Amino acid sequence: MKILGILGAHKRSGMTAKMLETVLQAVEQPNTVKIIYLEDLVIKPDIEGVPNPELDQIEKELLETDVWVFAAPTYWGTLSGVMKNLFDCLRQRLVRFDHTGASHPDRFKDKHYVSLTCCYTGAFENLISGVTDQTFKTIDKVMSAAGVIKVTEAVVTNTWGKTALSSKKEREFLAIGHKINNAKRRDDRTVKRYVELFFMVAAMSLITMLLQRMCSSFLSLTNFWFNYVSFTVIFFVLLAFLLHFVTFVKHRRH
Ligand SMILES: Cc1cc2nc3c(=O)[nH]c(=O)nc-3n(C[C@H](O)[C@H](O)[C@H](O)COP(=O)(O)O)c2cc1C
Repeated sequence: MKILGILGAHKRSGMTAKMLETVLQAVEQPNTVKIIYLEDLVIKPDIEGVPNPELDQIEKELLETDVWVFAAPTYWGTLSGVMKNLFDCLRQRLVRFDHTGASHPDRFKDKHYVSLTCCYTGAFENLISGVTDQTFKTIDKVMSAAGVIKVTEAVVTNTWGKTALSSKKEREFLAIGHKINNAKRRDDRTVKRYVELFFMVAAMSLITMLLQRMCSSFLSLTNFWFNYVSFTVIFFVLLAFLLHFVTFVKHRRH
C-alpha cells in the first residue's frame, strides 16, 4: 500500500507536523510513505485552457496512493485555509458531476483517509465545546462526497507552547500508523452498523427496564398500560440522548 501524508499547517515542524510524522513512522514495509507540504506549493483552481501542473501533480499522487493522512491545525474554529483551499481547488477532480450538477464519488472511491488536527484550546474546553469538530466535519464532508472511507481521526489539544507530543499521544499516533498498515482496500460497514444497532437497543432496553424497576415503588408495573407508557417514555429519552451524542459529539475531542 502507498500512504500519502498531506500537511496543511503554517509551520513545517510544528505540532501538526509531529502528529503526522508520528503516524507515518509506524507504517511498515512494504508499505511506502510520502509527504506533501502544502505551504511549499501554489495551489490554484482549474481555469479552462490554463495549465495547472501543481494540481496535476497532487491529483497524480492521490490517484497513486491508497491511504491519505490529512494533518491540519484548527484555525479560527475550522480547517486551516491551506487545506481547505486544496479541497476547494480539487473539487472538480475529486467527484463526478451529473447533468443536474449533483456530485458523485468517482475515481477515488474506496480509498481510505485519516484526519489529524490540533488546537490551543485545552482538553476540557474542547470536550465541552468541540472546537475541533468543524475541522473534522469539513474533511469528512469532502471525503464522503468523493467516496473515500475513514480509518480514524485524532486530536491534540492544548498545543500552546508545546514542541513535542506527550508519550500518551505518541502511543496513540503510532497505533494509528499500525492501523493504517491493516486498512483494507474496500470495506463495507453495513453488517458492523447492524451489530452496533443491536447492542445499542439491547443496552437501552436493559437500562429502561432497570429504571422501571427502580421506580416500581410508585409505578405499578403489573398494570400493562403503565408498564408500556413508562417503558416508551424512558426509552425515548435515552434514544434522544444517544442520537444527540452520535450526531453532534461523535468526533474525537481529546
Ligand atoms: C490563524 C490561526 C488561527 C487559530 N485559531 C485557533 C482557534 O480558533 N482555536 C484554537 O484552539 N487554536 C487556534 N489556533 C492555534 C492552532 O490550532 C495551533 O497553532 C496549532 O494547534 C499548532 O499547530 P502547529 O504547531 O502545527 O502550528 C490558531 C492558530 C492560527 C495560526
